[in-house]
Amino acid sequence: MTPATSLFTPVEADLLLLADNLKQLVGNRHPILFAAAEHLFGAGGKRIRPAIVLLISRATMLEQDITPRHRRLAEITEMIHTASLVHDDVVDESEMRRGVPTVHSLFGNRIAVLAGDFLFAQSSWYLANLDNLEVVKLLSEVIMDLATGEIQQGLNRFDANISIETYLKKSYYKTASLIANSSKAAGLLSEVSKETAEHLYGYGRHLGLAFQIVDDILDFTSTTDTLGKPAGSDLKSGNLTAPVLFALGEKPYLEVLIDREFAQEGDLEQALVLIQDSQGIQQARELASHHGKLAAEHLATLPPSESLQALINMTDYVLSRLY
Ligand code: IPE
Ligand code: IPE
Ligand code: MG
Ligand code: MG
Repeated sequence: MTPATSLFTPVEADLLLLADNLKQLVGNRHPILFAAAEHLFGAGGKRIRPAIVLLISRATMLEQDITPRHRRLAEITEMIHTASLVHDDVVDESEMRRGVPTVHSLFGNRIAVLAGDFLFAQSSWYLANLDNLEVVKLLSEVIMDLATGEIQQGLNRFDANISIETYLKKSYYKTASLIANSSKAAGLLSEVSKETAEHLYGYGRHLGLAFQIVDDILDFTSTTDTLGKPAGSDLKSGNLTAPVLFALGEKPYLEVLIDREFAQEGDLEQALVLIQDSQGIQQARELASHHGKLAAEHLATLPPSESLQALINMTDYVLSRLY
């Protein structure tokens, strides 16, 4: 289930170990929560975030092997991400994730909320056990940011007046913050300079923004089958993403449809036609590509290595993603 396999070559063995560990880390103290969490970890996912953490770890530890702390950070990063997805699917009332039914659709909302909380709590505990205060601060900020992003998105539903800047801010909170802060944390565990740590943060921030913009484009252009999660759901639920925000400038009637929340028959279909008929998707691609380039520029100070090359290629992979 890993589309970027060749990109992950330098950390392939690390990722196999991670997959085993993740299930064990969740523990089986609470059988139902365990089943719920294991269900998602078993389904896999692209594992982009732990791959980035491991690649940065290797790219900054050239003379030595990576440490158990680097590995644990990668595991924590995927745990936090998975927890956020469990909650996101409750909020979005989404039925499918990673090609399998979502936790809430199998076990109900109560279990899904608890399972998400449980994963966040577990990840905080493992985080604290890294015994590195700076890393604890970075990753606990991420958990706050994830909630902030979901709240902002909820408050802005069907608001056709939000700017691209507001959209990017929300995308930072929901997506880029985790990638940026875990990238920086990986560098800190390798004891890189302050300057390099900031570049790693910049890499993760821009890569995360590009990733979210592409995810938002795919919601319009891909299918539920290839995505393993429902396509075409953002607009319907009033989550106005880059393609729509750009299209609005060109097709003012879109605003009328959005303002009445697609209440009349055929509204949603008409909105989709207007978007397809505009430059919105193309402009969103350009914005993603801009952030992809900025991400790659932040890697300029790292010494050449196979892992560094994979991190650079990751920016192209994100932009070329078909699912
Ligand atoms: C989904 O992330 C949420 C977004 C930030 C768009 P991924 O597309 O990385 O999901 P998985 O982990 O591969 O399932
Ligand atoms: C990212 O945004 C989700 C989180 C970071 C929780 P989306 O809402 O676009 O994610 P998908 O499309 O449901 O995976
Ligand atoms: Mg969602
Ligand atoms: Mg999405």
